[in-house]
Amino acid sequence: MSTANASGASAAAAPLLNVADISLRFGGLKALSEVGFSVGKGELFSIIGPNGAGKTSLLNCISGRYSPQEGAVMFEGRDITRLKPNKRAAIGIGRTFQNLALFSHMSVLDNIMVGRHHLLKNNLLTGALYWIGGAQKEELEHRRKVEDVIDFLDIQHVRKSTAGTLSYGLRKRVELARAVALEPKLILLDEPMAGMNLEEKEDMARYIVDLNEEWGMTIIMIEHDMGVVMDISHRVMVLDFGRKIAEGLPETILANPHVKKAYLGEEDEALEDPDAVSPQAVSA
Ligand SMILES: Nc1ncnc2c1ncn2[C@@H]1O[C@H](COP(=O)(O)OP(=O)(O)OP(=O)(O)O)[C@@H](O)[C@H]1O
Ligand SMILES: [Mg+2]
Repeated sequence: MSTANASGASAAAAPLLNVADISLRFGGLKALSEVGFSVGKGELFSIIGPNGAGKTSLLNCISGRYSPQEGAVMFEGRDITRLKPNKRAAIGIGRTFQNLALFSHMSVLDNIMVGRHHLLKNNLLTGALYWIGGAQKEELEHRRKVEDVIDFLDIQHVRKSTAGTLSYGLRKRVELARAVALEPKLILLDEPMAGMNLEEKEDMARYIVDLNEEWGMTIIMIEHDMGVVMDISHRVMVLDFGRKIAEGLPETILANPHVKKAYLGEEDEALEDPDAVSPQAVSA
């Protein structure tokens, strides 16, 4: 019998991101306990779980804002556990924040441009000066990239507007534009649809799918809207009290009784009390 098959399969493409059993503590609080998972290139991977489950903390460990005390974060096969956030951005890890992080006094266009310069120069001031000085040859190329992103996210009509004056839904879209303009390989989205109305949510879901399918970006998304998560995700991971309690295809996750109990808060009598007497048994 040949073993070619098995060895061939194991040599298949390494994951883009591999989080290897990370644990994160804040004093006595264990925000993450031995959480491990991998995300392949081109995946749209969602993380769900109740408030305080550790979702944002996990994203922060990937983006470099937090440093786990145990475990490792590997990106394209490289150990980035101790790499600073700006270095991680430079190698292709982008993100948006749960709470908006735009420069509210600046225009939409400048918010997006500053994002790019920040990546290139690693220095906000240099970036701003460069922008004011203009005229540099590279600027045209920057402009083209930024214009592509503005077109894609349909924010042409507000490009000159001051970011702080926009509706919440539009600001979330501008924040996504800024992250996308950095041309990340992996983009981390922390509740991109929070606080949006139904129409805004549908739009945002479409942008995320297009980013994934047409722009080829690998996406990790935290989101509380289960309808959207189940609709657009390739795979879903569930966190509860800092632990991974499930991971799999959306339909598998929906059917998982532990997930129903921990996250969806469904009253499943059979699950709550395995010894409960069924109505059938009573009447028999
Ligand atoms: N910088 C910090 N210092 C101390 N504790 C923190 C810090 N960041 C997060 N925590 C704690 O870690 C736990 C996980 O928080 P985290 O923000 O990761 O949860 P979450 O799943 O994103 O919740 P939500 O759905 O409400 O956004 C919480 O108990 C939180 O208070
Ligand atoms: Mg959070």
